[in-house]
Amino acid sequence: MQTMYQQMETEELKAAIEQLEREVEETRAKGLKLDMARGKPSPEQVGISRPMLDILNSDSDLTDEGVDCSNYGCFEGIPSARRLAGEFIGVPPEQTIVLGSSSLNIMQSILIHYWEKGVPGYTPWSKLDHAKFLCPAPGYDRHFGITADLGIENIPVPMTETGPDMDVVERLVAEDDSIKGMFCVPKYSNPTGVTYSDETVRRLATMQAAPDFRIVWDNAYAVHDLTDEGDVLANIFDIAREAGNEDRILGVASTSKITFPGAGIAFFGSSPSNVAEVASTLKVGLISANKLNQLMHTRFLPDLDAVRAHMRKHAEFLRPRFAAVERKLTEGLEGTGCATWTHPNGGYFVSFDGPEGSAKRIAALCAELGVKLTPAGATWPYGKDPHDTNIRIAPTYPSVEELEAALDVLVLATKLVSAQLALEER
Ligand SMILES: Cc1ncc(COP(=O)(O)O)c(C=O)c1O
Repeated sequence: MQTMYQQMETEELKAAIEQLEREVEETRAKGLKLDMARGKPSPEQVGISRPMLDILNSDSDLTDEGVDCSNYGCFEGIPSARRLAGEFIGVPPEQTIVLGSSSLNIMQSILIHYWEKGVPGYTPWSKLDHAKFLCPAPGYDRHFGITADLGIENIPVPMTETGPDMDVVERLVAEDDSIKGMFCVPKYSNPTGVTYSDETVRRLATMQAAPDFRIVWDNAYAVHDLTDEGDVLANIFDIAREAGNEDRILGVASTSKITFPGAGIAFFGSSPSNVAEVASTLKVGLISANKLNQLMHTRFLPDLDAVRAHMRKHAEFLRPRFAAVERKLTEGLEGTGCATWTHPNGGYFVSFDGPEGSAKRIAALCAELGVKLTPAGATWPYGKDPHDTNIRIAPTYPSVEELEAALDVLVLATKLVSAQLALEER
């Protein structure tokens, strides 16, 4: 599609650029200092979980269904927390482990486990000539960082409106058995907000793949709906089990964006043999996780219904912010041909695409004007967005007023860069 600037006569285009440059100078003079880079809740939003901190004190009963949470033991996690983990991940409680505060940390530990020891009966990934991982892109940069750090090659796979492009995934996995795994954020994907369709989930669970192929099923946004009509994700574990592939799926989630980021509880769930195998490695370096934190969490949020009620309070903070993104981008860019963006029903991000070759320049201009964005390219493995179009918008942290001001700058920068590109290509 052509931008409105590409359709202008050259004189008209030059005049438009001059006008936009004047607006840029006016914006610069305001000396803004705004941040739309951080995928984290605002302080007021985090505040709704503060009552949890009053649950435990020196008089509290510190046992959970007979387990003493104030001492070592119960490596897999306390019973109430494993039940919650099972509801989150979609497996029975016995197939879960509740660990520290970070799901990213669990993902890294598990991938290091396979890197060093391999899937039982197969070569450790580190001993292969080459190991590769599929990375739906745009995607979550910290996922790509774990594999890159191990020396696993990250292969981008295009994201579509129904999840990763499954024709590409199936072809690559079938023809190349050095592909050992794949990252998936199946609900409200970071950053597109896409929830995988039932068909995508089924194909991932049933496709032909190497026996030691693993899918990191990072359900970080499992309950993060903006409205009561949230997206519904199929249970991949049920489908994989029926197809004889239950060892393929490694489920993780956490309460980072439910209670306290960095101080929540994190869940792992998978097949019985995967859980036993991963536990055997993790137990070497951990006697037991912080069970008092687990206890505090499950007394505050005993089951998924309680979690959903809590998430409705979070959504009150998030809805006006996501609405502001939609409103500002529509007012500023609709019909210009200069951008497309996603319209998620939940999660933490909106994915924005400008014209080819624009994203780095838009982000740099925004930075000059005092608006910090997630670095352009970060949503692709190795920071290399092949068409340089994608910018991740993180609307959750700033106030609505700050967000609106930051979006005005993004709109202006997108228009100026689009116009400049149209002139440069003549
Ligand atoms: C998709 C995804 N997974 C994991 C995380 C980090 O989760 P945790 O705090 O549990 O490590 C994030 C944080 O933004 C995320 O977006």
